[in-house]
Amino acid sequence: MTGVATNRTLARVSDAPSSTLRASVLRGLRAGVKTISPALFYDAEGARLFEEICCLPEYYPTRTEHAILARHAAELATHAGAGCALIEYGSGAGVKVRFLLDRLERPVAYVPVDISREQLLDVSRERARQYPGLRILPVHADYTAAFELPTLPPGARRVAFFPGSTIGNFHPAEAAAFLRRVRHVVGREGGLILGVDRRKDPRLLHAAYNDSAGVTAAFNRNLLTRLNREFGGEFNVDNFRHRAFFDDAASRIEMHLEALVAHEVCMDGEVIRFALGETIHTECSYKFDRPRLEALAESSGFRIEALYSDERDWFWEAWLVPA
Ligand code: AVI
Repeated sequence: MTGVATNRTLARVSDAPSSTLRASVLRGLRAGVKTISPALFYDAEGARLFEEICCLPEYYPTRTEHAILARHAAELATHAGAGCALIEYGSGAGVKVRFLLDRLERPVAYVPVDISREQLLDVSRERARQYPGLRILPVHADYTAAFELPTLPPGARRVAFFPGSTIGNFHPAEAAAFLRRVRHVVGREGGLILGVDRRKDPRLLHAAYNDSAGVTAAFNRNLLTRLNREFGGEFNVDNFRHRAFFDDAASRIEMHLEALVAHEVCMDGEVIRFALGETIHTECSYKFDRPRLEALAESSGFRIEALYSDERDWFWEAWLVPA
């Protein structure tokens, strides 16, 4: 069979926020240090703003990873081997996978996994058009949790692809738990191509998350608009400003929404109090050096077999295999 095959997972998942999700959002806002999961950034407007971020002059990761993939796709394809099934975690609207699909030797299937049903179907149709003969098996799922894989051709080597340095948006223990699940999915013979953002001059990091056009600020504040629309929030978005900084000891960018005035916000029948300057922590973006990446690989049952970087040593495309 060729072309796009929708699977059962795709038909089952509803786009409305579940009561569990609503409860976890409220729990995050009630906590001593208020937090919201960065997964909530990506409603339609958030996904659009993120696409815009990726093209900003200050936001180097996307361009840099493209350059690495353009240069090293053939070597990555050699690692993956002939006849693999490529499973992309968080396929989004991304085009990075094309560098691999163009180079892989007779891949037997491409499995894009994404939470956005619309994007997933668009991307699947487009890939089917671009790669006639390639079996496309989209999975509509939250890839951060366990999900059901479609039936893959028996014997195909499973190669996972997780680009974009999204691994940096997980806390270390969550990143290890997530990669352990990936390790389980690919099995003993599989592999993982992982995009990783490297530690670098904090001024470059600061600029990447505080762009001059204010797109990252809009992306961050869009969370509040989403809480108002989907979660019964009554936030006045103008009462919050975007704040992002590099925490060197933790090796991470932190993004926050900072209250500009002391005030109260009603949310789903509850009152949330904000002191002046209090923040909602919305995202961490961890940056890696070799020991940090090795520790992550080791704690998840992988080892680093090859690392590909750019001329400025800003980003890595890592080839990880089961330890
Ligand atoms: C998706 N992720 C890798 C981005 C990052 O750089 O951590 C999300 C982002 N947040 C602000 N700008 C981009």
